[in-house]
Amino acid sequence: MSDQPHSAEFFGEQRDFWWNRDFLALMAARWRLHEASALADIGCGVGHWSRLLYPHLRPGAMLAGVDRERRWVAEARENFQRTFPAIPPELISFQQGDALQLPLPDASFDVVTCQTVLMHLAQPMDGLREMLRILRPGGLLICVEPNNFWNYLAYTSLTETEPVEILVNRFEFWLRQHRGRIATGRGNHSIGELLPGYFAELGLRDIVTHQNDRPASLFPPYASPDQKALLEQGRQWQNSATGPWNKAELLELCRRGGGTDEFFEKMFADLVAKYHAEQRAVTDGTYHAAGGSINYLISARKP
Ligand SMILES: C[S@@+](CC[C@H](N)C(=O)[O-])C[C@H]1O[C@@H](n2cnc3c(N)ncnc32)[C@H](O)[C@@H]1O
Repeated sequence: MSDQPHSAEFFGEQRDFWWNRDFLALMAARWRLHEASALADIGCGVGHWSRLLYPHLRPGAMLAGVDRERRWVAEARENFQRTFPAIPPELISFQQGDALQLPLPDASFDVVTCQTVLMHLAQPMDGLREMLRILRPGGLLICVEPNNFWNYLAYTSLTETEPVEILVNRFEFWLRQHRGRIATGRGNHSIGELLPGYFAELGLRDIVTHQNDRPASLFPPYASPDQKALLEQGRQWQNSATGPWNKAELLELCRRGGGTDEFFEKMFADLVAKYHAEQRAVTDGTYHAAGGSINYLISARKP
């Protein structure tokens, strides 16, 4: 296991380019965030999601962020103060706590939200129940969570000439990772797909699903800040053997997902070769992909 705080590898610059601001303004209007006087952001990390939502709330709204990592809580507080220096500090709290046992009172928020957090929980239903506990009746639950399978079915300028068997094997590799992740209590990275059903099971009303409208496109000359950040993120993960390149963890997950060591070694070598082929194609200016991914925004009201 890494000695870094949870999700350290995911807080690079690339995260700043996840959303189109006009799309979020549209979602804020659909969710009527301007009526909300208190919002809780669960698993707030360094506050990316809180800072995007806060300007859409009723002026003078309270915000409470909770994360299990002390370091992220401190950074979230600093980031928020730097972004909104005029907001009175007593309106804002970031505190350490567990999503399954939130240090916040019952029925005290108009909006309770999380972004890419339920996907990391071994018991996401318990996390949802705890979020509902602190939501007032009639309040809005908003969860932003992915279906990451799409990333592994990626169709790019390079895949068209690759053997079908390799592409199918790659999907099997990630499917075994997925099963292994769930089996070892590391969460479900495609949980977004299941949330509308979970919301229904919890008896919520007005369940609505949307998708982030911003893909992670790459095309020559890869010069925009978002494309540079995306390429840099990929290189940094590969060079540091973190994120999707943590070999020991991948092997463990593959085994727990029912894959053999032989299959793992074959596919890990394929992934390394694929990575280098992509890097060469970027250098040559022949790599491109519209970069679609599935990130759901699922909302509902507490009865
Ligand atoms: C991928 S990050 C998302 C951070 C933030 N929501 C964002 O979108 O930028 C996942 C966050 O969930 C936090 N986390 C994971 N398990 C948690 C738990 N059981 N309770 C509270 N926070 C948790 C991690 O520390 C991390 O900050």
